[in-house]
Amino acid sequence: SYSAKIGPSILSSDLAQLGDECKRMMECGADYLHLDVMDGHFVPNITFGHPMVECLRNAVGPDPFFDMHMMVSRPEQWVKPMAAAGASQYTFHLEATTNPGNLIKEIRESNMKVGIAIKPGTTVEELAPWAGQVDMALVMTVEPGFGGQKFMDDMMPKVSWLRSQFPSLDIEVDGGVGPNSIHRCAEAGANMIVSGSAVVSSEDPRSVIALLKNVVME
Ligand code: DX5
Ligand code: ZN
Repeated sequence: SYSAKIGPSILSSDLAQLGDECKRMMECGADYLHLDVMDGHFVPNITFGHPMVECLRNAVGPDPFFDMHMMVSRPEQWVKPMAAAGASQYTFHLEATTNPGNLIKEIRESNMKVGIAIKPGTTVEELAPWAGQVDMALVMTVEPGFGGQKFMDDMMPKVSWLRSQFPSLDIEVDGGVGPNSIHRCAEAGANMIVSGSAVVSSEDPRSVIALLKNVVME
């Protein structure tokens, strides 16, 4: 039977309380934490970098899985610092590198899991040559840069195609995913579900996470 993990994105949280927010999400039933790193260059927004990740790791302890979504122009530059800070998985954007093969190797050598993300305008055929070498493919369902945008349903064929070609690959969706779009993601075969504003801006994150899980456990 099909099952999926739920990873809240804390981008829409009160950024002055990130450590507590991470703990709160884990207590509310999150399976992992999706951490959005933006450099103001690859995307028109800035969030935080490895010093923050190190503090968050110290705050939550060794167990929570940190899925780093690296929306940065030079992903090669942050592999070692992120590994040292306690990142579990390093997801770079295919659009941001000219040498995905070497980057994959460097991430593995740093003992992190490897993810490759594609923006809405990037085809799944461009990702395909690397899919057999990575742990996860991230299909963006909004233009990266900001939380709270509308889910792009027309990205679902990318997810279905990847699922058909790579049955055991982790496939993540990110952007505008919540109670209204989770069915489409589950149907297409995504098994790592990022949800930002729908979870953290809710008065009852525990119920929203439970609801999302309910759909993906059917
Ligand atoms: C967007 C980020 C997403 C975002 C998700 O660039 O990569 O992780 O925070 O937030 P929602 O679910 O609100 O779209
Ligand atoms: Zn993200």
